[in-house]
Amino acid sequence: MRLGEMPDPEVRDDDVLIEVHATGLNLLDSKLKAGEFKQLLPYRFPLVLGHDVAGVVTRVGSRVRQFKVGDEVYSRPPDFRIGTFAELIAVHERDVALKPETLTMEEAASIPLVGLTAWQALIERAHLKKGQKVFIQAGSGGVGTFAIQLAKHVGATVATTTSTANVALVKSLGADLVIDYKKQGFESVLRDYDVVLNSQDKSTLEKSLGALKPGGKLISISGPPDPDFAKTRGSSWVLRQVFRLLSYGIRKKARRRGASYSFLFMRADGAQLRVIGSLIDSGAIRPVIDRVFPLESTNEALAYVEAGRAKGKVVVRVK
Ligand SMILES: NC(=O)c1ccc[n+]([C@@H]2O[C@H](COP(=O)([O-])OP(=O)(O)OC[C@H]3O[C@@H](n4cnc5c(N)ncnc54)[C@H](OP(=O)(O)O)[C@@H]3O)[C@@H](O)[C@H]2O)c1
Repeated sequence: MRLGEMPDPEVRDDDVLIEVHATGLNLLDSKLKAGEFKQLLPYRFPLVLGHDVAGVVTRVGSRVRQFKVGDEVYSRPPDFRIGTFAELIAVHERDVALKPETLTMEEAASIPLVGLTAWQALIERAHLKKGQKVFIQAGSGGVGTFAIQLAKHVGATVATTTSTANVALVKSLGADLVIDYKKQGFESVLRDYDVVLNSQDKSTLEKSLGALKPGGKLISISGPPDPDFAKTRGSSWVLRQVFRLLSYGIRKKARRRGASYSFLFMRADGAQLRVIGSLIDSGAIRPVIDRVFPLESTNEALAYVEAGRAKGKVVVRVK
Protein backbone atom coordinates (compact mmCIF):
# COMPACT_ATOMS: atom_id res chain seq x y z
CA MET A 1 0.00 0.00 0.00
CA ARG A 2 1.08 3.56 -0.68
CA LEU A 3 -0.06 6.80 0.96
CA GLY A 4 -1.42 9.26 -1.58
CA GLU A 5 -3.83 12.13 -2.23
CA MET A 6 -7.26 11.24 -3.58
CA PRO A 7 -10.30 13.38 -4.45
CA ASP A 8 -12.96 13.53 -1.69
CA PRO A 9 -15.52 10.73 -2.06
CA GLU A 10 -18.79 11.45 -3.87
CA VAL A 11 -21.67 11.78 -1.36
CA ARG A 12 -24.88 10.27 -2.79
CA ASP A 13 -28.40 11.20 -1.59
CA ASP A 14 -28.55 8.34 0.97
CA ASP A 15 -24.94 8.65 2.11
CA VAL A 16 -23.27 10.14 5.14
CA LEU A 17 -19.74 11.42 4.74
CA ILE A 18 -17.64 10.16 7.65
CA GLU A 19 -14.44 11.80 8.80
CA VAL A 20 -12.42 8.71 9.69
CA HIS A 21 -10.95 8.80 13.20
CA ALA A 22 -9.92 5.15 13.35
CA THR A 23 -10.07 2.07 11.14
CA GLY A 24 -9.87 -1.63 11.94
CA LEU A 25 -7.73 -4.08 9.99
CA ASN A 26 -8.90 -7.43 8.70
CA LEU A 27 -7.37 -10.35 6.83
CA LEU A 28 -9.86 -9.53 4.08
CA ASP A 29 -7.73 -6.46 3.29
CA SER A 30 -4.66 -8.66 2.80
CA LYS A 31 -6.59 -11.19 0.76
CA LEU A 32 -7.94 -8.51 -1.59
CA LYS A 33 -4.47 -7.01 -1.90
CA ALA A 34 -3.04 -10.42 -2.83
CA GLY A 35 -5.77 -10.94 -5.46
CA GLU A 36 -7.18 -13.99 -3.66
CA PHE A 37 -10.82 -12.94 -4.08
CA LYS A 38 -10.69 -11.91 -7.73
CA GLN A 39 -13.65 -14.10 -8.74
CA LEU A 40 -15.87 -13.21 -5.84
CA LEU A 41 -14.99 -9.55 -5.42
CA PRO A 42 -13.67 -8.28 -8.74
CA TYR A 43 -12.23 -4.95 -7.55
CA ARG A 44 -10.30 -2.69 -9.87
CA PHE A 45 -6.93 -1.46 -8.68
CA PRO A 46 -5.55 0.92 -7.52
CA LEU A 47 -7.99 0.61 -4.63
CA VAL A 48 -8.39 2.15 -1.19
CA LEU A 49 -8.69 -0.82 1.19
CA GLY A 50 -10.23 -0.89 4.67
CA HIS A 51 -13.52 -2.37 5.96
CA ASP A 52 -14.05 -0.86 9.43
CA VAL A 53 -14.55 2.77 10.39
CA ALA A 54 -15.32 4.89 13.44
CA GLY A 55 -15.60 8.62 12.97
CA VAL A 56 -17.75 11.74 12.78
CA VAL A 57 -20.44 12.63 10.23
CA THR A 58 -19.38 15.78 8.39
CA ARG A 59 -22.03 15.87 5.63
CA VAL A 60 -25.33 14.13 4.89
CA GLY A 61 -27.03 13.44 1.57
CA SER A 62 -30.47 14.96 0.85
CA ARG A 63 -32.40 11.74 1.71
CA VAL A 64 -30.56 10.89 4.94
CA ARG A 65 -32.98 10.66 7.91
CA GLN A 66 -31.13 8.86 10.70
CA PHE A 67 -27.95 10.91 11.06
CA LYS A 68 -26.87 14.53 11.30
CA VAL A 69 -23.58 16.38 11.05
CA GLY A 70 -21.54 15.84 14.22
CA ASP A 71 -22.85 12.33 15.01
CA GLU A 72 -20.21 9.84 16.13
CA VAL A 73 -20.76 6.68 14.09
CA TYR A 74 -19.24 3.33 13.17
CA SER A 75 -19.68 1.11 10.13
CA ARG A 76 -18.57 -1.77 7.97
CA PRO A 77 -19.18 -0.29 4.51
CA PRO A 78 -20.55 -2.79 1.98
CA ASP A 79 -18.41 -4.57 -0.59
CA PHE A 80 -17.49 -2.36 -3.54
CA ARG A 81 -17.84 0.76 -1.38
CA ILE A 82 -14.97 -0.02 1.00
CA GLY A 83 -12.01 2.29 1.62
CA THR A 84 -11.68 3.13 5.32
CA PHE A 85 -7.87 3.46 5.14
CA ALA A 86 -8.53 7.11 4.36
CA GLU A 87 -9.48 10.42 5.94
CA LEU A 88 -13.01 10.41 4.51
CA ILE A 89 -15.48 7.77 3.38
CA ALA A 90 -19.08 8.06 2.13
CA VAL A 91 -21.39 5.26 3.34
CA HIS A 92 -25.11 4.60 2.74
CA GLU A 93 -26.96 5.42 5.97
CA ARG A 94 -28.43 1.89 6.20
CA ASP A 95 -24.90 0.54 6.77
CA VAL A 96 -24.07 2.98 9.59
CA ALA A 97 -24.93 3.07 13.31
CA LEU A 98 -24.21 5.47 16.14
CA LYS A 99 -20.91 4.58 17.82
CA PRO A 100 -21.33 2.78 21.16
CA GLU A 101 -21.13 5.59 23.72
CA THR A 102 -18.82 3.73 26.07
CA LEU A 103 -16.13 3.14 23.43
CA THR A 104 -13.27 5.27 22.17
CA MET A 105 -12.95 5.75 18.40
CA GLU A 106 -10.18 3.12 18.27
CA GLU A 107 -12.29 0.62 20.20
CA ALA A 108 -15.35 1.28 18.03
CA ALA A 109 -13.34 0.81 14.83
CA SER A 110 -12.33 -2.65 16.01
CA ILE A 111 -15.90 -3.94 16.11
CA PRO A 112 -17.96 -3.78 12.88
CA LEU A 113 -16.59 -6.54 10.62
CA VAL A 114 -15.91 -9.11 13.33
CA GLY A 115 -19.00 -8.18 15.35
CA LEU A 116 -21.27 -8.58 12.32
CA THR A 117 -19.54 -11.85 11.38
CA ALA A 118 -20.13 -13.33 14.83
CA TRP A 119 -23.71 -12.04 14.90
CA GLN A 120 -24.58 -13.36 11.45
CA ALA A 121 -22.99 -16.77 12.18
CA LEU A 122 -24.21 -17.41 15.72
CA ILE A 123 -27.51 -15.52 15.92
CA GLU A 124 -28.83 -15.19 12.37
CA ARG A 125 -27.60 -18.49 10.90
CA ALA A 126 -27.20 -20.85 13.88
CA HIS A 127 -30.01 -19.41 16.06
CA LEU A 128 -27.76 -20.16 19.03
CA LYS A 129 -29.74 -20.46 22.27
CA LYS A 130 -29.30 -20.72 26.00
CA GLY A 131 -28.10 -24.17 26.99
CA GLN A 132 -26.62 -25.05 23.59
CA LYS A 133 -22.93 -25.84 23.07
CA VAL A 134 -20.79 -23.98 20.54
CA PHE A 135 -17.18 -24.55 19.49
CA ILE A 136 -15.54 -21.30 18.38
CA GLN A 137 -12.12 -21.83 16.81
CA ALA A 138 -9.27 -19.38 17.40
CA GLY A 139 -10.90 -17.69 20.39
CA SER A 140 -8.05 -15.18 20.71
CA GLY A 141 -8.48 -13.74 17.19
CA GLY A 142 -10.62 -10.83 16.02
CA VAL A 143 -13.71 -12.91 15.29
CA GLY A 144 -13.10 -15.30 18.20
CA THR A 145 -12.83 -12.67 20.95
CA PHE A 146 -16.18 -11.19 19.91
CA ALA A 147 -17.91 -14.52 19.18
CA ILE A 148 -17.06 -16.02 22.60
CA GLN A 149 -18.64 -13.06 24.39
CA LEU A 150 -21.72 -13.07 22.15
CA ALA A 151 -22.26 -16.80 22.68
CA LYS A 152 -21.90 -16.40 26.45
CA HIS A 153 -24.36 -13.51 26.33
CA VAL A 154 -27.05 -15.77 24.84
CA GLY A 155 -26.33 -18.40 27.50
CA ALA A 156 -24.46 -21.00 25.45
CA THR A 157 -21.56 -23.14 26.65
CA VAL A 158 -18.41 -22.20 24.75
CA ALA A 159 -15.38 -24.28 23.83
CA THR A 160 -12.47 -22.65 22.03
CA THR A 161 -8.94 -23.25 20.79
CA THR A 162 -5.92 -21.05 21.31
CA SER A 163 -2.22 -21.37 22.16
CA THR A 164 -0.79 -21.37 25.69
CA ALA A 165 -0.09 -17.62 25.80
CA ASN A 166 -3.76 -16.74 25.17
CA VAL A 167 -5.51 -19.23 27.46
CA ALA A 168 -6.06 -16.61 30.19
CA LEU A 169 -7.43 -14.09 27.65
CA VAL A 170 -10.11 -16.42 26.26
CA LYS A 171 -11.07 -17.54 29.79
CA SER A 172 -11.49 -13.89 30.78
CA LEU A 173 -13.94 -13.53 27.86
CA GLY A 174 -16.04 -16.36 29.27
CA ALA A 175 -14.87 -19.50 27.41
CA ASP A 176 -15.91 -22.56 29.43
CA LEU A 177 -13.57 -25.08 27.85
CA VAL A 178 -10.21 -23.98 26.43
CA ILE A 179 -8.11 -26.34 24.33
CA ASP A 180 -4.49 -25.38 23.87
CA TYR A 181 -4.07 -26.50 20.27
CA LYS A 182 -0.31 -26.79 20.68
CA LYS A 183 -0.81 -29.50 23.31
CA GLN A 184 -4.02 -31.27 22.36
CA GLY A 185 -6.25 -31.86 19.33
CA PHE A 186 -9.81 -30.64 19.89
CA GLU A 187 -11.11 -33.70 18.05
CA SER A 188 -10.20 -35.91 21.00
CA VAL A 189 -12.15 -33.73 23.44
CA LEU A 190 -15.25 -32.20 21.87
CA ARG A 191 -18.46 -34.20 21.34
CA ASP A 192 -22.13 -33.39 20.83
CA TYR A 193 -21.82 -29.71 20.01
CA ASP A 194 -24.77 -27.87 18.45
CA VAL A 195 -22.65 -25.42 16.45
CA VAL A 196 -19.07 -25.10 15.22
CA LEU A 197 -17.76 -21.76 13.96
CA ASN A 198 -14.86 -22.77 11.70
CA SER A 199 -12.23 -20.21 10.76
CA GLN A 200 -9.25 -22.43 10.02
CA ASP A 201 -7.95 -24.75 7.30
CA LYS A 202 -9.48 -27.72 5.50
CA SER A 203 -8.21 -30.36 7.89
CA THR A 204 -9.62 -28.43 10.90
CA LEU A 205 -12.92 -28.13 9.04
CA GLU A 206 -13.16 -31.88 8.47
CA LYS A 207 -12.16 -32.71 12.07
CA SER A 208 -14.84 -30.29 13.30
CA LEU A 209 -17.56 -32.61 12.04
CA GLY A 210 -16.65 -35.05 14.81
CA ALA A 211 -17.49 -32.43 17.42
CA LEU A 212 -21.08 -32.02 16.20
CA LYS A 213 -24.14 -33.85 17.37
CA PRO A 214 -26.68 -35.08 14.79
CA GLY A 215 -28.55 -32.03 13.54
CA GLY A 216 -25.57 -29.83 14.43
CA LYS A 217 -24.41 -26.95 12.26
CA LEU A 218 -20.92 -26.50 10.87
CA ILE A 219 -20.58 -22.87 9.77
CA SER A 220 -17.33 -21.88 8.10
CA ILE A 221 -16.07 -18.38 7.51
CA SER A 222 -12.84 -19.59 5.90
CA GLY A 223 -14.38 -21.62 3.07
CA PRO A 224 -15.11 -23.52 1.03
CA PRO A 225 -17.99 -21.45 -0.40
CA ASP A 226 -21.17 -23.39 -1.14
CA PRO A 227 -23.93 -23.08 -3.79
CA ASP A 228 -26.37 -21.31 -1.42
CA PHE A 229 -23.79 -18.62 -0.90
CA ALA A 230 -23.44 -18.23 -4.67
CA LYS A 231 -27.21 -17.90 -4.94
CA THR A 232 -27.48 -15.18 -2.28
CA ARG A 233 -24.65 -13.27 -3.97
CA GLY A 234 -26.36 -13.62 -7.36
CA SER A 235 -23.22 -15.28 -8.74
CA SER A 236 -23.08 -16.68 -12.26
CA TRP A 237 -24.07 -20.26 -13.10
CA VAL A 238 -20.41 -21.11 -13.63
CA LEU A 239 -19.37 -19.80 -10.22
CA ARG A 240 -22.26 -21.67 -8.61
CA GLN A 241 -20.96 -24.92 -10.13
CA VAL A 242 -17.44 -24.12 -8.96
CA PHE A 243 -18.69 -23.59 -5.39
CA ARG A 244 -20.78 -26.76 -5.63
CA LEU A 245 -17.65 -28.73 -6.49
CA LEU A 246 -15.44 -27.01 -3.91
CA SER A 247 -17.86 -27.77 -1.07
CA TYR A 248 -19.11 -31.15 -2.33
CA GLY A 249 -16.88 -33.23 -0.03
CA ILE A 250 -17.63 -31.42 3.22
CA ARG A 251 -21.37 -31.14 2.48
CA LYS A 252 -21.52 -34.87 1.83
CA LYS A 253 -19.56 -35.75 4.97
CA ALA A 254 -21.77 -33.45 7.05
CA ARG A 255 -24.94 -35.03 5.63
CA ARG A 256 -23.64 -38.50 6.44
CA ARG A 257 -23.37 -37.46 10.08
CA GLY A 258 -26.82 -35.89 10.06
CA ALA A 259 -25.25 -32.43 10.34
CA SER A 260 -25.22 -29.46 7.97
CA TYR A 261 -22.44 -27.44 6.38
CA SER A 262 -22.70 -23.83 5.28
CA PHE A 263 -20.31 -21.06 4.30
CA LEU A 264 -20.83 -17.55 5.59
CA PHE A 265 -19.51 -14.36 4.09
CA MET A 266 -20.52 -11.48 6.33
CA ARG A 267 -22.39 -8.46 4.97
CA ALA A 268 -22.75 -4.83 6.00
CA ASP A 269 -25.74 -4.10 8.26
CA GLY A 270 -26.31 -0.89 10.21
CA ALA A 271 -29.34 -2.26 12.10
CA GLN A 272 -27.30 -5.17 13.47
CA LEU A 273 -24.53 -2.74 14.43
CA ARG A 274 -27.11 -0.82 16.48
CA VAL A 275 -27.98 -3.95 18.45
CA ILE A 276 -24.30 -4.83 18.84
CA GLY A 277 -23.65 -1.29 20.09
CA SER A 278 -26.33 -1.63 22.76
CA LEU A 279 -24.82 -4.95 23.92
CA ILE A 280 -21.47 -3.21 24.23
CA ASP A 281 -22.90 -0.23 26.10
CA SER A 282 -24.71 -2.60 28.48
CA GLY A 283 -21.36 -4.22 29.32
CA ALA A 284 -22.17 -7.63 27.78
CA ILE A 285 -19.34 -7.41 25.23
CA ARG A 286 -16.05 -5.53 25.36
CA PRO A 287 -13.59 -4.85 22.55
CA VAL A 288 -10.22 -6.60 22.65
CA ILE A 289 -7.47 -4.56 21.04
CA ASP A 290 -3.96 -5.83 20.58
CA ARG A 291 -2.22 -2.83 18.98
CA VAL A 292 -2.99 0.62 17.60
CA PHE A 293 -0.79 1.97 14.78
CA PRO A 294 -0.63 5.46 13.19
CA LEU A 295 -1.90 5.84 9.61
CA GLU A 296 1.62 6.08 8.18
CA SER A 297 2.28 2.57 9.58
CA THR A 298 -0.72 0.86 7.96
CA ASN A 299 1.58 -1.51 6.03
CA GLU A 300 3.29 -2.53 9.25
CA ALA A 301 -0.10 -2.95 10.92
CA LEU A 302 -1.35 -5.20 8.12
CA ALA A 303 1.86 -7.24 8.22
CA TYR A 304 1.26 -7.74 11.95
CA VAL A 305 -2.27 -9.05 11.24
CA GLU A 306 -0.94 -11.29 8.45
CA ALA A 307 1.53 -12.89 10.86
CA GLY A 308 -1.55 -14.51 12.45
CA ARG A 309 -0.72 -13.92 16.11
CA ALA A 310 -2.96 -10.93 16.89
CA LYS A 311 -4.78 -11.07 20.23
CA GLY A 312 -8.09 -9.50 19.32
CA LYS A 313 -8.00 -6.59 16.88
CA VAL A 314 -5.43 -4.34 15.28
CA VAL A 315 -6.48 -0.74 14.67
CA VAL A 316 -5.06 2.26 12.81
CA ARG A 317 -5.59 5.74 14.26
CA VAL A 318 -6.29 8.21 11.46
CA LYS A 319 -7.15 11.41 13.33
N1 LIG B 1 -16.27 -15.09 5.81
C1 LIG B 1 -16.28 -13.98 6.53
O1 LIG B 1 -17.23 -13.21 6.49
C2 LIG B 1 -15.12 -13.69 7.44
C3 LIG B 1 -15.19 -12.62 8.34
C4 LIG B 1 -14.13 -12.41 9.22
C5 LIG B 1 -13.01 -13.24 9.16
N2 LIG B 1 -12.97 -14.23 8.24
C6 LIG B 1 -11.81 -15.14 8.17
O2 LIG B 1 -11.76 -15.86 9.40
C7 LIG B 1 -10.42 -16.12 9.76
C8 LIG B 1 -10.17 -15.57 11.16
O3 LIG B 1 -10.27 -14.16 11.13
P1 LIG B 1 -9.79 -13.26 12.35
O4 LIG B 1 -9.95 -11.85 11.93
O5 LIG B 1 -10.43 -13.71 13.60
O6 LIG B 1 -8.24 -13.65 12.39
P2 LIG B 1 -7.08 -13.13 13.32
O7 LIG B 1 -7.62 -12.19 14.34
O8 LIG B 1 -5.97 -12.66 12.47
O9 LIG B 1 -6.62 -14.48 14.02
C9 LIG B 1 -5.46 -14.48 14.80
C10 LIG B 1 -5.66 -15.47 15.94
O10 LIG B 1 -5.77 -16.81 15.43
C11 LIG B 1 -5.22 -17.70 16.37
N3 LIG B 1 -4.82 -18.92 15.71
C12 LIG B 1 -3.93 -19.06 14.70
N4 LIG B 1 -3.82 -20.36 14.33
C13 LIG B 1 -4.67 -21.05 15.14
C14 LIG B 1 -5.05 -22.43 15.26
N5 LIG B 1 -4.49 -23.36 14.46
N6 LIG B 1 -5.97 -22.79 16.18
C15 LIG B 1 -6.53 -21.85 16.99
N7 LIG B 1 -6.23 -20.53 16.93
C16 LIG B 1 -5.31 -20.14 16.02
C17 LIG B 1 -4.06 -16.93 16.95
O11 LIG B 1 -3.86 -17.38 18.28
P3 LIG B 1 -2.42 -18.00 18.68
O12 LIG B 1 -1.44 -16.87 18.54
O13 LIG B 1 -2.67 -18.45 20.10
O14 LIG B 1 -2.16 -19.12 17.71
C18 LIG B 1 -4.51 -15.46 16.92
O15 LIG B 1 -4.97 -15.00 18.17
C19 LIG B 1 -9.57 -15.49 8.66
O16 LIG B 1 -9.29 -16.46 7.69
C20 LIG B 1 -10.49 -14.44 8.06
O17 LIG B 1 -10.16 -14.10 6.75
C21 LIG B 1 -13.99 -14.46 7.38
